[in-house]
Amino acid sequence: MKPVSSTQEIPAVSAVPAHVAIIMDGNGRWAVNRHLPRTAGHVKGVRTVRKVVEYCVKSNVSHLTLFAFSSENWRRPADEVSLLMRLFVQALDREVAQLKQQGVRLHVVGDLSKFDSKLQGMILHAQQTTAENDKLHLTIAANYGGRWDVLQATKAMLEHSPELAKDPSVIDEQTLASHLCMSWAPEPDLFIRTGGEQRISNFLIWQLAYTELYFTDCLWPDFSATKLQEAFDWYQARERRFGRTSAQLPTKHSVA
Ligand code: IPE
Ligand code: IPE
Ligand code: MG
Repeated sequence: MKPVSSTQEIPAVSAVPAHVAIIMDGNGRWAVNRHLPRTAGHVKGVRTVRKVVEYCVKSNVSHLTLFAFSSENWRRPADEVSLLMRLFVQALDREVAQLKQQGVRLHVVGDLSKFDSKLQGMILHAQQTTAENDKLHLTIAANYGGRWDVLQATKAMLEHSPELAKDPSVIDEQTLASHLCMSWAPEPDLFIRTGGEQRISNFLIWQLAYTELYFTDCLWPDFSATKLQEAFDWYQARERRFGRTSAQLPTKHSVA
């Protein structure tokens, strides 16, 4: 699918959002509520990931992007960070075969240079193993930050086209966006944040410019296919205008 800037074109109104981006929040509170260590919430959270991926495959969502570890999450206690890394390694190890079978193509985005070389190797291997698939593009954002992404895109753009520095007036949104680390994907249609907080926390700050934002108090380990469908139902009732008036919009369920 060709990436479309939702700020320029009205995407097709389809039964499900093409690109769903999720901040999986609330693992720690889920565990604390049960007098368990926070890490137990992260373990349970991995199971929710599996269910959500399966449901997206079943629902014909083409892109699912999950925020797994932010550039700010290094500020957490060292033992929690290392458990999160271990879970990431385990999940890559255990799930890749199943993802491949389900037609899922895995991408990992973020500043991967901060991960140890074993993990970097596993990420590369998992991406290569699923590279032929295109039923669902599953992107895991790990050591990702939206500001980091805009900055790395700016540097990459100038490295690729140094002449732009001499005439910045020719730089347009598309030029910069083509260097963002998810440039292959359309912008997210639906953003979901579990765990009750209503903030973006440095997720896809550029790409979320016109995304429908859905917040739920449900903690990530309790999130489910049914709850994801509730978010899809909410999304389908939204009128996406991108600056236009209602009267200018194509009829619902027709292609723009
Ligand atoms: C989200 O759950 C998982 C990561 C940030 C890795 P949290 O660990 O932030 O859970 P809460 O917000 O403390 O409940
Ligand atoms: C955002 O959750 C990052 C991930 C889910 C990976 P946080 O729980 O770290 O967000 P803040 O710091 O409370 O905003
Ligand atoms: Mg949190």
